[in-house]
Amino acid sequence: MTDQLHTDLPRALRRALDLLAYPPDHPDVSLGYLDLLGHLPAADLAPEKNTGAIQAAWASGLGSMLYDNAQALARKVVSAWQLPIEWLSIPAGGVALDVGSGPGNVTAALARAAGAEGLALGVDISEPMLARAVSAAAADNVGFLRADAQQLPFRNEMFDAVISLAVLQLIPNPTTTVAEIVRVLKPGGRVAIMVPTAGLGGQLLRRLPNGGVNFFSEDDLGDTFEELGLVGVRAKTLGNIQWVRARKP
Ligand SMILES: C[S@@+](CC[C@H](N)C(=O)[O-])C[C@H]1O[C@@H](n2cnc3c(N)ncnc32)[C@H](O)[C@@H]1O
Repeated sequence: MTDQLHTDLPRALRRALDLLAYPPDHPDVSLGYLDLLGHLPAADLAPEKNTGAIQAAWASGLGSMLYDNAQALARKVVSAWQLPIEWLSIPAGGVALDVGSGPGNVTAALARAAGAEGLALGVDISEPMLARAVSAAAADNVGFLRADAQQLPFRNEMFDAVISLAVLQLIPNPTTTVAEIVRVLKPGGRVAIMVPTAGLGGQLLRRLPNGGVNFFSEDDLGDTFEELGLVGVRAKTLGNIQWVRARKP
C-alpha cells in the first residue's frame, strides 16, 4: 500500500488497518467501510454462510431499514435491549469492537465511551446494514468493516471490550465466533453478548421454513464462555433475551 493511499483513508479505518492480521495492499473503502470480503478466499476456506430468510432480510435494503427503526424503539422501551456500556469499562482512548454491528448505533455508543482518542469498530457481513451504519455513525473514532464474524480479521488481543447483540443466532457456527471474540480480546478485557433464548418468540420463529435462526438454551453460551477460559461469567435472562458477560483473565 502506498503512503498516499494510507493517508487518504478515513482516520478510523486507517487505525483499523493497524489492527488487521493481514492488511490488504489496496484497501477497498469505496463505500465508506473497509470491505474485506470483496476478495473472498477459496470456497473451502470461507466460513459457512447463513442462507436463511432472517439473515436474507438483514442483508436487504428494506429489511435493514425496518430493523434500524425497530431496534431504536426497542432500546428505548425494553430494558433487555439496553447496553451494558458502563460494565464494559472501556478505558478513555481504548479500542472496542461491535460484532454484527448492523445499523451502527451500538458501535457509536462504544465510541462515546472510548472518547475522542479511542476507537470503536463495527464488523458486519451485510452491505445495506453497513451503508446505514456509515451514514449514521462513521466518525474519526468510529469505523466499519465488512467481514465475517466467524473469521474476525484482527490480530490477537487488540480490543479492550467486545460486544455483540442479536447476532450469534444468525451465525452457522456460534462457538467459532465466540472463540474469535475471545482471541481478539486483550487480557483483562470484557465481553458482553446478547442472544435470543428458546422462549415463545423462538418457538414461533423456528416454524419459519428456512428461517436460519439458532436459539440458545439457558446454559449454552455461559458454558461456551467457561470452556474458552473466560472468568466471572454471568448470565441474565429477561423474557427470551439473554445477556452473558465475562472477562478474559
Ligand atoms: C439482528 S441484527 C443486530 C444488529 C446490531 N447488533 C444491533 O443490535 O442493532 C444482526 C446483524 O448480524 C449480522 N450478521 C449476521 N451474520 C453475520 C456474520 N457471519 N458476520 C458478521 N455479521 C453478521 C447481520 O448482517 C445483521 O446486521
